[in-house]
Amino acid sequence: MIYQRSSALFAEAKKYIPGGVNSPVRAFKAVGGDPIFVKKAKGAYLFDEDGNKLIDYIASWGPLILGHAYEPVIKAVVEKAQNGTSFGMPTEIETELAKLAISMVPNMDKIRFVNSGTEACMSAVRLARGYTGKDKIIKFAGCYHGHSDSFLIQAGSGAVTFGSPNSPGVTQGTAKDTLLAAYNDLAGVKELVQANKGELAAIIIEPIAGNMGCIVPTDEFIKGLREICTQENILLIFDEVMTGFRLGKGGAQEVLNIKADIVTYGKVIGGGLPVGAFAARTEIMDYLAPDGPVYQAGTLSGNPLAMSAGLAMLTELNNAPEVFKSLAEKTAYLHKGIGKVLTEKNVPHQINRFGSMISVHFTDEPVVDFASSAKGDNDTFKKYFHGLLERGIYLPPSAFESYFLNDALSYEDLDATINALKEIDL
Ligand SMILES: Cc1ncc(COP(=O)(O)O)c(C=O)c1O
Repeated sequence: MIYQRSSALFAEAKKYIPGGVNSPVRAFKAVGGDPIFVKKAKGAYLFDEDGNKLIDYIASWGPLILGHAYEPVIKAVVEKAQNGTSFGMPTEIETELAKLAISMVPNMDKIRFVNSGTEACMSAVRLARGYTGKDKIIKFAGCYHGHSDSFLIQAGSGAVTFGSPNSPGVTQGTAKDTLLAAYNDLAGVKELVQANKGELAAIIIEPIAGNMGCIVPTDEFIKGLREICTQENILLIFDEVMTGFRLGKGGAQEVLNIKADIVTYGKVIGGGLPVGAFAARTEIMDYLAPDGPVYQAGTLSGNPLAMSAGLAMLTELNNAPEVFKSLAEKTAYLHKGIGKVLTEKNVPHQINRFGSMISVHFTDEPVVDFASSAKGDNDTFKKYFHGLLERGIYLPPSAFESYFLNDALSYEDLDATINALKEIDL
């Protein structure tokens, strides 16, 4: 396939936008080459600026679970736009989406809408600190909770007691309040909790991780976290920005049968428009301004266009929850097909999957945390990625990202993907 116009557009974009993109992963740094510029999309397909048609496995990094330009969502947004795009005043549709979202997920009484997953997680941590009166949090290496300062932390030399910034601009002061643990390592978490007794406001986790590939927590680990949090008066924050309204109506809380104290949402809840949200029981949410002392606000929060897209999307999922099963079946089919081809080619690999999230890792060892995910062979990944791209299949341009299947993908699309893989020299 030819990607000439995309390359020219990228060269032009780089003159005016840092790195030519508005979010780094789009720039293809991990895989090399120039990114694809999209002209339009419909269902499971992207149509790029060179006139190529690509089968899409990222669905805008998750939101478009029912496929691109999904009719009920587009209709809702277009109709809403006729009446004005933003008021900075309350609108009925905010309550409608809040009511529906809360009815679909377990254990949540109230929800606050923001504009992104980053904002949702940042606000959830502030709320947890305000509610508990404690400062420190634990996060897991390889989990991504957006780009706010508290989360851009890596293990420091004294990792057991504090982290260190992993981006210039994040202060040591901020880093000292974020402690790092390894995913699926309950003993490590217990150690941190003991060493920081009485100081921890929250443990934040992607309950099914998607930012180091797809990583599933062991039963012992996730139940253990819940127990520790309850015992030690620490709030358990589930970051369901990826998993919420994707793994099932009630997201990871439902499928893992674990109740979190605060849950953050993004992606699907906005139906492809910029929406994030965080939710909790009333006693926690009442700490939030204007009722409580914890400040949080937004000019465009609860924006009517964004709410209309979210409402149309959640209404569809609520009325036809069998889609979650159909998506999981398609993902299992893809898993089997890719696994068979890679085994026949004698390429060492692991495939991780949960519901409609899946990732392929080029390593011999099970991938259970960031360290094991980082052992994947990136040269093989690059060949795999570019080989498929050449054949019209668009995967996440990084080995650390989960694929997000959308229900517009047909079994013919999945077969085309598996067959394309057969042709690639890895
Ligand atoms: C689990 C998780 N949390 C938070 C975020 C941040 O969301 P956003 O990019 O909307 O700020 C992401 C983004 O991919 C995510 O995957």
